[in-house]
Amino acid sequence: MAQTPLETYITENERRFLEDLKGWLRIPSISTLPEHAGDIRRAAEYAADQLKRIGFEHIEVIPTQRHPLVYADWLKLPGKPTLLIYGHYDVQPVDPLDLWESPPFEPTIRGDNLYSRGACDDKGQTMLVFKALESLMTVNGALPVNVRVLIEGEEEAGGESIEHYVKTFPERLKCDAAFICDTGMPSRDLPALTYGLRGITYTEVEARGAKRDLHSGMYGGVAPNPLHALALIIAGLKDAEGHIHIPGLYDKLRQPSAQERAFWRDDPLNSTEMLYEEMGVSQLSGENEYPPLERLWARPTLEVHGIIGGFVGEGAKTVIPAVGKAKISLRLPPDLKSAEVFTLFERRVKELAPPGVEVTVHNLHGGEAVLVPVDTPPVQAAAAALREVYGKDPVFIREGGSIPIAALFDEVLRVPVVLMGFGLPDDNLHAPNEKYSLSQFFKGIRTVASFLQKLG
Ligand code: BES
Ligand code: MN
Ligand code: MN
Repeated sequence: MAQTPLETYITENERRFLEDLKGWLRIPSISTLPEHAGDIRRAAEYAADQLKRIGFEHIEVIPTQRHPLVYADWLKLPGKPTLLIYGHYDVQPVDPLDLWESPPFEPTIRGDNLYSRGACDDKGQTMLVFKALESLMTVNGALPVNVRVLIEGEEEAGGESIEHYVKTFPERLKCDAAFICDTGMPSRDLPALTYGLRGITYTEVEARGAKRDLHSGMYGGVAPNPLHALALIIAGLKDAEGHIHIPGLYDKLRQPSAQERAFWRDDPLNSTEMLYEEMGVSQLSGENEYPPLERLWARPTLEVHGIIGGFVGEGAKTVIPAVGKAKISLRLPPDLKSAEVFTLFERRVKELAPPGVEVTVHNLHGGEAVLVPVDTPPVQAAAAALREVYGKDPVFIREGGSIPIAALFDEVLRVPVVLMGFGLPDDNLHAPNEKYSLSQFFKGIRTVASFLQKLG
């Protein structure tokens, strides 16, 4: 690449960019655990401070019902387009802690990777956007477009606060396009733009039997067992072939285009082979009649995340527990609405509950799927930036994960949404040893800077 002033600035500041990211990663901003509320606050302020140093204005740490939003803008180019940039500063819990090779909140470099919870998702990806903005602002004294930044601290825990904010104050977010840097690419030499994400319904099923725990010899044979009830419910929800047995669930499913079908079937990127390797399994599970990519990107799925209850210590205890709980979520392709799916799910769970066990179903959070058009100028500008930095045309992919705000920007703000991220399949998102590739981080900065220039 030509040694432009921008390129020189980025090269000379790479080490400091990394230090700024590390400082953010040291704050354990786990949004789902109430004891981390103070850390959440500190992580929000860290983001606000970064934006202030870049030269943003109207910086606000906005209080919400739960975790604060961070807003800032730089709107000094009347007549030029405005880009709304989104990221999240909250992270997932770190358990199981003993599987981490270095402590999750002590960012550590090994080889080309920076290991820490949030290294990729989404502090690393958000920080690279900040650093692209900083570089442009420092070198040119201005940004190439108007920019609003909105960062949330609740993405990993449902994101109700940002949803409320976007729906209540759409005029504060007036923009011509939105940019979300929270996705990945299939490999380090294959840039990608994401055009589809699944939605989600996340539930907790609580089963109650007797009024207290019981001796299994004195009561076994007559006592209802909530854990067994949960097992029956779970088995009734999805069979061994991956089919979900919730009446009405598949009714509204949209048919993918012939072009998508062909891509998923032919699998030109060899994604299926990589899946075996990434997961370390010898057999894929799920609906055999659909290609793996379709199962990941465009089919509804149901997963059990955890089962709580009874005796789980060493040794044996003969008890019939009074209560059991299961965390169960569904991933939803476009047209399956989270709230409607919850209603169908709840009905089915109650139907599957055996006699004597009282079942309550809680809707912990939900978010909608999104499919964005790719022929819009902002998406094409992102594609051109990727081509420039990676020397290759990006592939257009869907992903199976969920970013509820993407659908909201699409529906409420009605602007093109660019989903461009630099995560890699082996980044261990939500798992022990989450990492981010340093070269991806630095290429990301260059790509985002170029993307903004092209937008301007
Ligand atoms: N960044 C991810 C979503 C993602 C991961 C998109 C990989 C594309 C590729 C995001 O932080 C995330 O984990 N979202 C949650 C959503 C939820 C808790 C509402 C998810 O998908 O589980
Ligand atoms: Mn994320
Ligand atoms: Mn995540």
